Amino acid sequence: MSAAWTHRHLIDVDILTADELTLVLDLARSMSASRAAGTTEPVLHHQTMATVFAEASTRTRTSFQLAARALGGDVVSIEAATSSLSKGESIIDTVRTLDALGVGVIAIRHPDDGAARVATDHFRGHVVNAGDGSHAHPTQALLDLYTLTEHLGADGIRGSKICIVGDLVHSRVARSGIWALTTMGMDVWVTGPREFLAGFETWAAELPAGRRLTITDDLGAGMRGAAAVMALRVQRERLHGSAAPTEAGYAVAWGITEARLVAACPDAIVMHPGPVNVGVELPDDVASGPRSVITCQVANGVPVRMAVLALLAGTDA
Ligand code: CP
Repeated sequence: MSAAWTHRHLIDVDILTADELTLVLDLARSMSASRAAGTTEPVLHHQTMATVFAEASTRTRTSFQLAARALGGDVVSIEAATSSLSKGESIIDTVRTLDALGVGVIAIRHPDDGAARVATDHFRGHVVNAGDGSHAHPTQALLDLYTLTEHLGADGIRGSKICIVGDLVHSRVARSGIWALTTMGMDVWVTGPREFLAGFETWAAELPAGRRLTITDDLGAGMRGAAAVMALRVQRERLHGSAAPTEAGYAVAWGITEARLVAACPDAIVMHPGPVNVGVELPDDVASGPRSVITCQVANGVPVRMAVLALLAGTDA
């Protein structure tokens, strides 16, 4: 299967064709089954993956670690607070150090856009972007796509409407997600307060022709007929004093309540990349309710990252 995969690194999903996205999804399904059965091929045996996280994480770091271990790999964890990053060592020197220590794969998260790309210039193994600034979060996009196929069907994606709501301008999840979902033919609507859309249009204008993306500040129009609604986290850490609604004001105007979900398809699912600001993007009864697939998204992070690591390991470093 890895014969069709030629990418040494995964910095964003914009390098992946629809066939390559399908390859990842198919392999993730197979990884999920083999992990449950205890029959996973140890393709990372004798290899070490480092999670290099200069920003906080629970889901992404843990699922990368579980994925590498499930593939028979060793795992080391580099965190900002407990590594020499806290002494001022640069991310480049950190990556060079891991390269010298024989690490074969790094999953890197960093607050700066482009940090994962920079790492590829200083590392002889494979680099996976685990989230860089507001730029990209490719494995989140893949696990979201995987989750959508679980609930809408692999053939139900094309033409289905998804509404992505919230802090678009700061969201690497939205950027990678929109790219992947529109590559697979989804009809993507994005909506949020004007403060969270300002500047996002510039990015959206660069999408290839033919992608189905609608930007609106009308939440009702975005939600109408949607098969899936994805709320984004309001990223207080990236606001830096810029204008933004208060949490209470956001919840009133943009929170995805059951009353608002009436506009969506009757069986519409609710997604969120996490962590949820409960009571802001989603009230608790929606975040924990029957429409919510948030825990499915989290769980799917492991087989999807197993698939990505296996595909990368199958290429020449
Ligand atoms: N979705 C996501 O990236 O979550 P974490 O920050 O917990 O990894």
